[in-house]
Amino acid sequence: RILILDFGSQYTQLIARRVREAGVYCELHPFDMEDEAVRTFAPDGVILSGGPETVTAAETPRAPQAVFELGVPVLGICYGMQTMAAQLGGVVESSDHHEYGYAQVRARGHTALLKDIEDHTSPEGYGLLDVWMSHGDRVIDLPPGFKLMASTDSAPVAGIADEERHFYGVQFHPEVTHTRQGQRIINRFLHDICGCSADWTPGNIIEDAIGWVLESVGDEQVLLGLSGGVDSSVVAALLHKAIGDQLICVFVDNGLLRHQEGDQVMATFAEHMGVRVIRVDAEERFLSRLKGVTDPEQKRKIIGNTFIDVFDEEAGKLERVAWLAQGTIYPDVIESAGAKSGKAHVIKSHHNVGGLPEEMNLKLLEPLRELFKDEVRKIGVELGLPADMVYRHPFPGPGLGVRILGEVKKEYADILRLADHIFIEELRKQDLYDKTSQAFCVFLPVKSVGVTGDGRRYEYVVAMRAVETIDFMTARWAHLPYDFLDHVSRRIVNEINGISRVVYDVTGKPPGTIEWE
Ligand code: XMP
Repeated sequence: RILILDFGSQYTQLIARRVREAGVYCELHPFDMEDEAVRTFAPDGVILSGGPETVTAAETPRAPQAVFELGVPVLGICYGMQTMAAQLGGVVESSDHHEYGYAQVRARGHTALLKDIEDHTSPEGYGLLDVWMSHGDRVIDLPPGFKLMASTDSAPVAGIADEERHFYGVQFHPEVTHTRQGQRIINRFLHDICGCSADWTPGNIIEDAIGWVLESVGDEQVLLGLSGGVDSSVVAALLHKAIGDQLICVFVDNGLLRHQEGDQVMATFAEHMGVRVIRVDAEERFLSRLKGVTDPEQKRKIIGNTFIDVFDEEAGKLERVAWLAQGTIYPDVIESAGAKSGKAHVIKSHHNVGGLPEEMNLKLLEPLRELFKDEVRKIGVELGLPADMVYRHPFPGPGLGVRILGEVKKEYADILRLADHIFIEELRKQDLYDKTSQAFCVFLPVKSVGVTGDGRRYEYVVAMRAVETIDFMTARWAHLPYDFLDHVSRRIVNEINGISRVVYDVTGKPPGTIEWE
């Protein structure tokens, strides 16, 4: 297992994903992890991430000294290389020459890390690597025991190596895909230098998780709020495989789900897989509490609180439940750690299942808390969930509640569901669904004039929204073909009563958000 210490780079999660993709288990911890905790973790290797600070200031982050005393390989990336150089006796200085973006690095001296890895060969016979570079400071004196591993014209020290201790530093970012050989370099570090085998595979992850669940839960009963989203669905499939009928799922239909979503959830889990699912039809309750409310944050709160009330009520009817399972995944864990140290900002109050009936005193079971989304999807498929469900676009907790602008009404939700269904169905048919990261329709409660056949129409407006993004923090609007948009727009207006106009949202994030509320 690999320990990744986070110095605050925007790419740190990517490092962890690359390591996992290489089939090696890793954990991400803040750079100020205690020496004792580092030793207890007992990693087979350590990676120091990049970060926004400068090593040349006195009060900036340093790696725990224990990292260099464990006798295991260390890879410092960008800031990680600089702090390693500074902590081990080298000299780093600020430079006026900042470099950001594509660069070509000459790889010198055949180090174990870069040997035979190159994109081109220079006339002098050096290996050349196309990399993604970002740095302001530079290392000017190597620490004792280190030799130069790579350089560029503006960063004479772009890579350093102490092959005796297996300490490596690179100024560029092997974790981003712009560094073409990045995954190979990371694999080399993990498999050849740290000696880690590639045994973090979906099959093994499931087996481990099942073992762990059986041990924790014993013969007690587990309750799960099943939403039909990827995370809770995979938890359901996993727990069902581990403990069968000891798992009881509660599925709350809030009336704000997509077209036929409730029936599909029941068909997949209850009918097909034989999972115990209690379906609660709570449409009335949600809609009556939302009556007259137009403020988006207020709507989110009401939907969240109503969910908790309904869920608690159902849970209260069950006897002998000892555990509450949740679909928490690793980015949630990292994010909430970040939130505690004040690093994350709340832009919208995102709602997840959180309603623990206090008097029930449930213990929390989070079998996915070590997994990234792509790993969750892979084990979902391995557990037999339909690929359609596992690779579905994300859907917000408050559902159509934040896609109907202003007051939520059943009439609006019914119209929106149909329009959204047509849009998604066509994306799938024309092979565009997987090329967009998220796509949906938004209901605008304004009326617009139209004309069809022999009559005038005066009806509502629907907006189509489709974005491409990696992390959902920034996004570009999807440049869907005009012919496609034309076709979907015609279908929506022709097939649905109540819509006279369709528009396409061409706002990026920023400045827009992905959802309209
Ligand atoms: P925004 O609109 O903030 O959305 O750009 C980013 C991603 O988060 C989803 N989203 C939510 N998910 N509860 C959720 O569970 C929410 O309240 C919520 N608001 C937005 C959104 O669908 C997108 O994927």
